[in-house]
Amino acid sequence: MSPSLFPQHIIAQKRDGGVLSRAEIGAFVRGATDGSWADYQLSALLMAIFLRGMTPEETALYTDAMMRSGVVADLTAVPGIKVDKHSTGGVGDKVSIPLAPMVVACGVPVPMISGRGLGHSGGTLDKLESIPGFRTDLSLADYCAQVARIGCALIGQTKDLAPSDKKLYALRDVTATVECIPLICGSILAKKLAEGIDALVLDVKFGRGAFMKTEEQARELAHALVQVGRAGGKKVRALLTAMNQPLGRTVGNALEVGESIACLHGEGPADLMEVTYALGAQMLLLGGKAEDVAEAEAKLQAVIADGSALEKFREIVVAQGGDGRVVDEPDRLPQASHKVILPAPATGIITDVDAMQVALAALRLGAGRAKAEDRIDPGVGVSGLVKIGEPIEAGAALCTIHASDASSAKVAVEMLGKAIRVGNEAPPKARLIGELLS
Ligand code: URA
Repeated sequence: MSPSLFPQHIIAQKRDGGVLSRAEIGAFVRGATDGSWADYQLSALLMAIFLRGMTPEETALYTDAMMRSGVVADLTAVPGIKVDKHSTGGVGDKVSIPLAPMVVACGVPVPMISGRGLGHSGGTLDKLESIPGFRTDLSLADYCAQVARIGCALIGQTKDLAPSDKKLYALRDVTATVECIPLICGSILAKKLAEGIDALVLDVKFGRGAFMKTEEQARELAHALVQVGRAGGKKVRALLTAMNQPLGRTVGNALEVGESIACLHGEGPADLMEVTYALGAQMLLLGGKAEDVAEAEAKLQAVIADGSALEKFREIVVAQGGDGRVVDEPDRLPQASHKVILPAPATGIITDVDAMQVALAALRLGAGRAKAEDRIDPGVGVSGLVKIGEPIEAGAALCTIHASDASSAKVAVEMLGKAIRVGNEAPPKARLIGELLS
C-alpha cells in the first residue's frame, strides 16, 4: 500500500481540513468493509469528517464507494422506470405501505429495501412483519424476481448490500457522529442506489418527531441528497414535510398496518393521504406515468377507487408469505390484550400532540426498540389519536392505548396525558407539505 493511503495519513489530511481523493475515500470504505482499518481509525476519520465536512465531490465519491462495497441489484431486465421512496423517518410514518401498491398499480415498478426502526421512529419492516407470515428476508435474487413478476418487493437490507454502511453506522451511533450531512447522504443513498432503481423520491422530514429539527436543516440535507443522487446517475427529488405531530391517527406496528389498509380502502386520514399523494405524484412523474401533479394525483385516486391498489397490496403480502386475508379482515393482525381510553380533561380544541412524546409512549409500550437487539411487540401502540386543531368534549377519547399489561398502560396514560394538550384557542394551521427540491 502506498504510504499516502495509510489510515493515519488520510485521517491527518481530513483533520487538517484537506479534501480527500477518490483513492483515499476508497481506502477508508474498503477498510470499513474488510476490517483492515481498526475501529479507532475509522472512528477518528468519521469525527474528522463530522468536524471538517466534505465537499459535494467527496460526498459523491464516498457514496459511490459505499454502494460498491457490496452487491448492486440488477433490475435492468424489468421494463419501466423503477422508482423508490425513502423517508428520513417520523412518528406514525407508514406512508410506504399504502404508497408502494398505489404506485405499482399505476404502472411504475417499486423496488423497496427498507430499514428497521431504531430510536423513536418505527421501521417499515417491523410494521410489515406484524402481518402473520410476512417475510422481509428475501434473498437479492428473490427480490429481483418478485419485482419482475409483480412490480414490487418490500424487503430488508441484505448483508451483502452496502456492508460498509452497517459497520460505519454502528460506529457513528456510538461516537456522536450521526448528525453529519455528508455521512447521512452516503449512508442513505449507498443503500438506495444499490437497490437497482432508476429514480428516487425522498421525504425529508423536519420537526420535533424528525431527525432534522428545523426546516432549514431538512432543506440542507435534501439539497445534498438530490445533488449526490444526481451525481450517481439517478433522478432524485426531495419533498420537505412537517413532523411535529404523528402522521395519521395510529402509532405502533400492527395498528399502522391496519391504518395503511384503511388508506387502500379509501378511508385513510387526511394528513396521511396528503403526504402519500404528494410523494406518489412525484414517483409517477419520475416514472413517466403522468405529465403533471394533477394527472398523477387523479391516477393515484383512481387506483384506490377501483380497488386495484388494494389488490396489489394483497398480491405483495401473499407473495412474501403473509396472510392475504388481513387486507379484508384487519382484525387478523396481532392485538394487544389491554385497551385503555385516554379521556380529554376539558372541552376545547386540541392545541398540541407532541410527536416525540407520543413516540416515547409507544416505545414504553413495546412498539419500538431502545437497543438494536430489543424485541418489538407488534400489537401495542396508540390508535384514534386526535389531531391539532380538532374540537373535543370533556371525557371524549384523546386516543386509545393498546398495551400488553396494566402497568405499561398506566405509564402510557401519564405520558400521553402530557403529550396531548387541550386549550381554548386553535393554534395557527401549520403547513404539512413544504418545498420540493429537484
Ligand atoms: N438513515 C440512514 O440510513 N443513515 C443515516 O446516516 C441516517 C439516517
